[in-house]
Amino acid sequence: PPHIPFTFTLFGATGDLSMRKILPALFVAHREGKLHQDGRIICVAKQDFSRDDYLAWVSKSAIHYVKGGIVGQADEALWQSFLARINYLPMDLLDAAGYQALASALAASKAVSVFYLATSPSLFEPICANLAASNIDLSQARVVLEKPLGHDLLSSHAINDAVARVFAEDQIYRIDHYLGKEAVQNLLALRFANSLFEPLWRRESVAHVQLTIAEQIGVEGRGEFYDGTGAMRDMVQNHLLQLLCMVAMEPPTSLDANAVRDEKLRVLRALKPFSAEDMELRAVRGQYVSGAVDGKSVVAYRQEAGVSEQSQTETFVALHAEINNWRWAGVPFFLRTGKRLAQRTAEIVITFRPIPHAILPMPFGQSGSSSNRLVIRLQPDESIQLHCLAKQPGDGMTVQPVALDLAFDQAFKQRRAEAYERLLLDAIRGNLSLFVRRDEQEAAWRWVEPLLRHWQATSTPPKPYMAGSWGPTASFAMMERAGAQWPEDR
Ligand code: BG6
Repeated sequence: PPHIPFTFTLFGATGDLSMRKILPALFVAHREGKLHQDGRIICVAKQDFSRDDYLAWVSKSAIHYVKGGIVGQADEALWQSFLARINYLPMDLLDAAGYQALASALAASKAVSVFYLATSPSLFEPICANLAASNIDLSQARVVLEKPLGHDLLSSHAINDAVARVFAEDQIYRIDHYLGKEAVQNLLALRFANSLFEPLWRRESVAHVQLTIAEQIGVEGRGEFYDGTGAMRDMVQNHLLQLLCMVAMEPPTSLDANAVRDEKLRVLRALKPFSAEDMELRAVRGQYVSGAVDGKSVVAYRQEAGVSEQSQTETFVALHAEINNWRWAGVPFFLRTGKRLAQRTAEIVITFRPIPHAILPMPFGQSGSSSNRLVIRLQPDESIQLHCLAKQPGDGMTVQPVALDLAFDQAFKQRRAEAYERLLLDAIRGNLSLFVRRDEQEAAWRWVEPLLRHWQATSTPPKPYMAGSWGPTASFAMMERAGAQWPEDR
């Protein structure tokens, strides 16, 4: 892909996200030679720092989040040349007058302008309005938005409308960093570069699909934010549903951004709405109580700083979803995510239907659950495994489970880009394929909202689960009702 000159304006440049993700990702892109030499970064925030003070802070803070760290003189020199790209502009984001300084900083440049809003979404509207009121030329500009993009459909409309008054939809890059993960790209390659899987990728062959994003971490100093958000809004509405789309969508006619996003939208619109009964039987919400993760004891969610002692916020969700279309009707899509679970894993498990008639003794019972699973692992390592049965060596005819195993670490020696690095480069290059379109985002809200409302209206609290476990027992019971099991239960 071509290197193009750019000016990257980072609003919220002193915030957590900038220090942890955005600046480290830009540095790595710089180190790997992926940034044009005329690429400048303007860091904007309200603190009244000098450029030197700000750079000193970045060198104390963001540097720690560079994967592999800064080691040796060569890296140090690269770090210094990276800092040379950065300017700092102190500015009150609510004050239109301050934008004149930004306008003059951008005026002379012919480079592509990317505005990254790493701020609270409550600032999106004033930032966009003030940009529009300044004499900055926005006709070729791009704006990158971070989640949370609203709390529900209505508030997401308000944010999207405010941004749309200034930027056209094809200038708007809504980040879902799960789409930037290498393994998710690989899912596309697996599905659309091989002929092997497509005939099996449907209800006739697939028994069910499981999507899990399990975390060991708790709320990490974000208690107050998280308590007003919960796992459904933090993980399901965006990351899990985007993964589901990647698995379930029809083959797009090309990798063109709208071709891909049209197909994802069709899946989101085909999600079967939860009936009153489904809300009880096909949805589980949980909240962790104290326990131990990796042998270390941790406090209950309600004891975390910033969290209410009576909090009803869910830190775990398990859902049994269905997609009402010809390819997938009746196939359960089980979604699950939680904090303070036993392990950090993110994986997609596609379980194929059992054989119709067993002529060999089968390890899982004669008709039993299927032995064929395709497991796409995103985290902690990236791999694709195809589980089958093979004959055990020896006289008898005993079969046992084995896996064809593609571990990306072993198959490819090249460095694989992190999600933020890939997505920031895409924003600079103008590639929207891995960003979420407004209608997708809204369709996702439409599906989760009734359940959120139902939870809010009921007085039944979320089911408690021990920190370090795999979530409430109700999540296992939900699977049992559907004749399936989570992998830990197998
Ligand atoms: C973020 C959520 O979007 O994703 C966090 O707000 C969560 O709560 C994080 O921890 C998980 O991302 P990753 O890439 O670490 O799996």
